[in-house]
Amino acid sequence: MRTTIYDEIGGAPAVTVVVDAFYERLVADPDLTSYFAGRDMARLKAHQRALVTVALGGTSEQYNGRMMHPAHAGLSITDAAFDKVLDHLLAVLTAAGVPPVTSAKILAILQPLRSDVVQPSLTAAR
Ligand code: HEM
Repeated sequence: MRTTIYDEIGGAPAVTVVVDAFYERLVADPDLTSYFAGRDMARLKAHQRALVTVALGGTSEQYNGRMMHPAHAGLSITDAAFDKVLDHLLAVLTAAGVPPVTSAKILAILQPLRSDVVQPSLTAAR
């Protein structure tokens, strides 16, 4: 039987722990407040779950790379913010006991989405 990354990290219970811890870290980071503050908590948790799902390769057609660009349009997400989000994910994976080799695979899945998530601000483009 093929082992997925999802299985490797401990399945659904581990994912829930990771998503909750990830959410806490993102909303508490002053550098990311401008992106996440004031947004609906349930939607944000759904965001973090979607992100972790993509990362684990458990993507549905709904969460593929092609929809990443429209989902993040107008949010002016910088390279630095993208890096910070990934750093927080790495920290929570490590704290959850995910082995470094598995975390590296997870981050390698997310890195190619950078060009769709990081978009120049609409005003700066004028
Ligand atoms: C690396 C991979 C990422 C993935 C896979 C991802 C995934 C998604 C998805 C699927 C949505 C649409 C969710 C929805 O419509 O409910 C979304 C929206 C959003 N994303 Fe991401 N995201 C990523 C990175 C980031 C980063 C780096 C930031 C900010 C620093 C960010 C901030 C947001 C915000 C603010 C929304 C809108 C949420 C809302 O409408 O309330 N995302 N993302």
